[in-house]
Amino acid sequence: MKTRVIKVDSEKPDPEAIAEAAAALKEGKLVAFPTETVYGLGAHALDPQAVQKIFDAKERPATDPLIVHIAHIGQVNQCAMGMPAGARKLALTFWAGPLTIILPKRPAVPDLVTAGLPSVALRAPSHRVARALMEMAGVPVAAPSANRFSRPSPTTAAHVLEDLDGRIDLILDGGATNIGLESTIVDFTVDPPVIRRPGGITFEQIHSLVPEVVQATGQGSEADAQLAPGQLTRHYAPRAPLTLYDGPPELVVPRLGADVRTAVAQGSRVGILAPEEDLTALAPIIASTASAGRVEVRPYGSRADVERAARELFAALRDLDASGVSVIYASSIGADGLASAIRDRLMRAADGRIKTIVQE
Ligand code: TXA
Ligand code: MG
Repeated sequence: MKTRVIKVDSEKPDPEAIAEAAAALKEGKLVAFPTETVYGLGAHALDPQAVQKIFDAKERPATDPLIVHIAHIGQVNQCAMGMPAGARKLALTFWAGPLTIILPKRPAVPDLVTAGLPSVALRAPSHRVARALMEMAGVPVAAPSANRFSRPSPTTAAHVLEDLDGRIDLILDGGATNIGLESTIVDFTVDPPVIRRPGGITFEQIHSLVPEVVQATGQGSEADAQLAPGQLTRHYAPRAPLTLYDGPPELVVPRLGADVRTAVAQGSRVGILAPEEDLTALAPIIASTASAGRVEVRPYGSRADVERAARELFAALRDLDASGVSVIYASSIGADGLASAIRDRLMRAADGRIKTIVQE
């Protein structure tokens, strides 16, 4: 299959391009498109044959349910049985936007979409291209992130091509996505509601409207994986093993630096994924003669600008991995607000290799 790429203006998408993509979706084809979080790989959500193609193209296990994208809150009834007051409040406040809500599903939604679960995850994206596509298609669109299974989510059309060229029909290229991390998932099929995945809308924002909401304990743990299928620990996995250094920067940076020195001395090629301030502090080690040709660095934003850090994280991770390093050392940038979503993705990428650095 030849994958076509159509460039679209992210502010004012060409209606002809959108019409072509919408027609492809309705015919059961796969279309990748930008959302405000990451690129999604869309298929007609009520057409099981189309949905099956998503699992095939991504090599995604059938046990991992998909998010169904809709144009607006008025489409919820097509897919879900009612909406508790808290869910409605969140949808009215944060849709269109980076929030996914899990509700009891209607029989019309194929079991394939929800991996056999009695619930369905719904989201109304705010990106102009995504909205225009949903509106024109007029059908709910199942869309996971448009990456091969266990690769970092794509934030550009080039990332989508890297993973899915020749496997999907069409990519709408609307440039780099704005948020860079996936939506926040809140499960309203349990009482109290649970945040299954931290993301573009923070815990604090949700808590202010739904005070009873709780965060899933041990996010990314195996125990959690059973509660929230698809939330496997090993996710966003780079080819080189990634170790996450977690803790206050004044402790994390010297420890990470010492480990870089050791690894280089042992002959490793080390990649460092860290905010700009950390790389500045590590400059003497990176510039040392021992490190020559053995250390690759990729900044992801800045501690002073968490939104930019989120936007740049996945591209930096992909790029570092492609550079052929044998190990990756990454530092996290905090545990609150949007930083908690960054930390969650790095923890998944680390697959258990987490060094928590605390004051002795
Ligand atoms: O920002 C996003 O949410 C992006 C864009 C494309 O919208 N999509 C995305 O989809 O991140 P995906 O497939 O990569 O992640 C969806 C996750 C699944 O892995 C699963 O954990 C959860 O959503 N999920 C979906 N349906 C669920 C359900 N019924 N119950 C529990 N978890 C569910
Ligand atoms: Mg994904």
